[in-house]
Amino acid sequence: MSRLVVISNRIADPRKPAAGGLAVALGESLQQTGGLWFGWSGNIVEEAPTGEGELRVQQAGKTTLATIDLGREDHDSYYLGYSNDVLWPVFHDRLDLANFDAGFISGYRRVNQLFARKLLPLLKPDDIIWVHDYHLIPLAAELRGMGCRQRIGFFLHIPLPPHIIMAAIPQHEWLMRSLFAYDLIGFQTHQDVQHFEQYVRNEANGEVKGQGLYRAYGQTVRCRAFPIGIDVDEFAALTHAKESREMFETMRREYSSRRLLLGIDRLDYSKGIPNRVRSFRELLANYPENRRSATLIQIASPTRETVDAYADIRRELESLCGAINGDYGELDWMPVRYIHRMVARKRVPGLCRAAAVGLVTPLRDGMNLVAKEYIAAQDPADPGVLVLSRFAGAAEQLKEALLVNPYDTHGTAETVQQALQMPLEERRERHQMLLSRIRAEDVHWWRRTFLDALRAAESVR
Ligand code: G6P
Repeated sequence: MSRLVVISNRIADPRKPAAGGLAVALGESLQQTGGLWFGWSGNIVEEAPTGEGELRVQQAGKTTLATIDLGREDHDSYYLGYSNDVLWPVFHDRLDLANFDAGFISGYRRVNQLFARKLLPLLKPDDIIWVHDYHLIPLAAELRGMGCRQRIGFFLHIPLPPHIIMAAIPQHEWLMRSLFAYDLIGFQTHQDVQHFEQYVRNEANGEVKGQGLYRAYGQTVRCRAFPIGIDVDEFAALTHAKESREMFETMRREYSSRRLLLGIDRLDYSKGIPNRVRSFRELLANYPENRRSATLIQIASPTRETVDAYADIRRELESLCGAINGDYGELDWMPVRYIHRMVARKRVPGLCRAAAVGLVTPLRDGMNLVAKEYIAAQDPADPGVLVLSRFAGAAEQLKEALLVNPYDTHGTAETVQQALQMPLEERRERHQMLLSRIRAEDVHWWRRTFLDALRAAESVR
């Protein structure tokens, strides 16, 4: 079997216990094929010249980890700038937050060229290459320009926006043209594929050839949806591990006469956390029986804090939580417990299991794996209810969740009340269906289907 080469901005060491499902799933494949994982080391070198970075190669079992450092200027324009101040907001339909600073694009190109240049000598002729996410859209085009002929696939972990939004990016044509250098493009949802199709027709004057083939810019590419999943068995096993059981028991003791609602997110404006807190406030206002009873635990882990929009959302959330606790809190009950830290991954399943309602209500999200983790952690005999945004990619699959529009504060509050009151029989039925869905399309299925499709993809370019 050909060797697998994975490239992503962040790499996770599959040997480390904190590694999530994706790292574990990719790690497994890499171990099987004696693969290579290439990406940014996470180090920033202050005075480094642009377009340069030291390469470090180390062995982790059968997997080779190759990482490069980034200079400050490259990091700021490629990662903070173009990736997270242009592509992230626009791909999440937030044109209002995009910062089209003309200086960012050169850093983005430079780092993609640097990745390509450093990777090329490490490649073997029959490698199969899998590039991940929006930081690296032009990587295949750069590699092709340097003579790379290996099969290359791309998976976008975030949504692809409608063509009219995409076209707001000054370099949209260049970005979309770059995608045609891949042999296979994977999206999270059918909706993303439709957006790609609309772009090809309306902006690129291209052709939809059927059977997942698209022609534009004189090239043809394959594209389809591969919804990412979780490792259900691993997560269920974690639920029964010591740390998780302790967490569950602590929460159950502390909330014995109370109902727990839970949100776990990176503190990102796409996650709709302030909207969620406003809906919770409306729940307390409209259904007073929940006062002194329902508690919202919101874990919002710090992320990309030097990008302005992230500092703004933190301030907004903190003021909202303060206001609701001031207005509704009692000496022996606080409505919102807001935690601006990471929670150890080992404790997350126990926390999920203790929550009567899982609130996964992003304004926009590629997939959202917390929704799937919440389901996997539940006790099938007495499961909690998942309240899920219709704008999360997961909503295409998780049809038995209670779907909400997170912009509709009142409607969301009504649905949360419905979740709190749902009879046991209905909770069980919904949970059983949801569990079978996340089992059928788990992370192993996702990896296998993508790699099988990439291996089978004969060149159509
Ligand atoms: C999203 C992106 C990932 C990214 C992660 C964490 O899930 O799709 O590519 O790694 O957020 O963000 P960060 O900027 O810390 O890598």
